[in-house]
Amino acid sequence: TPDRSLTGRRVLVTAGPTVEPLDPVRFLSNHSSGRQGYAIAAALAARGADVTLISGPVSIPAPAGVHRISVQTAREMLAACETALPVEVAVCTAAVSDWRARDMAPGKIKKSGDGPPSLELVENPDILATLCRAPQRPRLVVGFAAETDDVLENAQAKRLRKGCDWLVVNDVRQGVFGAMRNTVSLIDDNGVQNWPEMDKTDVAEQIAQRIAAFFADPSS
Ligand code: C5P
Repeated sequence: TPDRSLTGRRVLVTAGPTVEPLDPVRFLSNHSSGRQGYAIAAALAARGADVTLISGPVSIPAPAGVHRISVQTAREMLAACETALPVEVAVCTAAVSDWRARDMAPGKIKKSGDGPPSLELVENPDILATLCRAPQRPRLVVGFAAETDDVLENAQAKRLRKGCDWLVVNDVRQGVFGAMRNTVSLIDDNGVQNWPEMDKTDVAEQIAQRIAAFFADPSS
């Protein structure tokens, strides 16, 4: 029989890139495909969870049974997350743009004889850290991290800085963006678990199973 152990649990998942406009035709963004987050949303929904998937623009369809909210910017993504509260679980897989243009130019920025324009950037809100500090903090908050150097040291520091319960790290030296497979480690209060390379759908299954186990026995 299928595992329906997350029936009725409210979960929010962020996924995909954010897109930050510079002017009406140009933007700042990144190569996130949304695949890992979509697979997690699907695996949780398959276990009966009530999943809100807050997604930047991606080219993959919303998984069956998931309520997808499409957003563009980091600020829109944060607002959609806050609207989705209260939830019991938040899984933040989105590749949120760290910066946005301080002002969006109202018209297309023109080339001029004086060389390229300079862009003034400002920092975007950190959605994961904001959820971790929210008065309605989800019981379980899962973050992701892509690291290229000192992978585990940086990831452990990041988990504490952001305040999430679990941090799933991928070593992106091998190139994970848009790929079907992923090699991750999971960091929690008990330390680091290294998982073997597997399909992103299997990473999603493992995470969903672990979330189900957490609710079955929160002390485990
Ligand atoms: O700091 P870094 O971008 O490496 O952190 C990655 C984690 O934080 C991911 O879970 C990502 O979804 C989340 N994040 C966020 N808002 C940001 C930056 C990152 O939610 N502005």
